[in-house]
Amino acid sequence: MKKLVPRDYSLIAPIYDKIFIRPLSQGHKELGHLLKTKTRKTPLKVLEVGVGSGLTFDHLPSRIQYTGIDINDRMLGLAQKKILKIGRKDMTLSRMNAQKMSFKENSYDVVMASSVLSAVDSPLKAMKEMIRVTKKGGTIAVIANVREERSIKSQFIKLFDPMTKKFLGFRTDIELKTFTRFKELELVECKKINNVFGFPLSTFLLFRKIK
Ligand SMILES: C[S@@+](CC[C@H](N)C(=O)[O-])C[C@H]1O[C@@H](n2cnc3c(N)ncnc32)[C@H](O)[C@@H]1O
Repeated sequence: MKKLVPRDYSLIAPIYDKIFIRPLSQGHKELGHLLKTKTRKTPLKVLEVGVGSGLTFDHLPSRIQYTGIDINDRMLGLAQKKILKIGRKDMTLSRMNAQKMSFKENSYDVVMASSVLSAVDSPLKAMKEMIRVTKKGGTIAVIANVREERSIKSQFIKLFDPMTKKFLGFRTDIELKTFTRFKELELVECKKINNVFGFPLSTFLLFRKIK
C-alpha cells in the first residue's frame, strides 16, 4: 500500500474540528454508545488510538479508565485542552505511534479507532498492535473508510483518493479484508455510518478478541 503524502495533522489541527465534527459525529456517538453498554463494577479500561482533537470526549460515559494516544503533538494539545475543560481526572493522553505501542499485551477491555487506520502508514501493523493490547474477550471498534470491491460508488470515491491523501491525510481505499483477516477476532457487527447527504463515508466494524 502506498504511503500517505502528509503523515502530519499539524496543518489541519487548527481547523480540524470545524471540518470533521459533523461528518464524523455519527461514529463518535456509536463509540460512546458502545462504552455505555459495557459499564461494569470495575471501571472499563479503554484505549482510543489516534484520538486526534478529542471529538469522542463528549460521548464518553463517566465510569471508564481512558487512555488516548496520537502521534501528533498539536492534535494531542487540542485533546488535552478539552480534557481540562470537562475536568475529567480519569483520562490520560500520550504521544505514541499506533503501529508500535508501548503498552503490555492484554491491557485493555475496549480498543477503539475512529478514522485513524486510514491515516496510518500501515493499517495492518496498527490493527496487529490493537489486537495485541486488547484483553482476551475484549472489544475492538474500528471506524474506517473501507473500499467496496467493484462497486461503481467505490470507483467514484477512489477518484478523490489523491486529494484526500494530499489535503486531509487519509486514504479511501482500504480493503475490508485488512480488518477481517485476523484469526484472533470475531466480527460482531459491520455497518455503514457517517452519512453525509445520504452518502456513508465510513464503515463501523466491531470485533471480539476470541484468542
Ligand atoms: C482523521 S484524524 C481522526 C482523529 C479522531 N480519531 C477523530 O475521529 O476525530 C486521524 C488521526 O490519526 C493520527 N495518526 C496518524 N498516524 C498515526 C499513528 N501512526 N499513530 C497514532 N496516531 C496517528 C493523526 O495525528 C490524527 O490525529
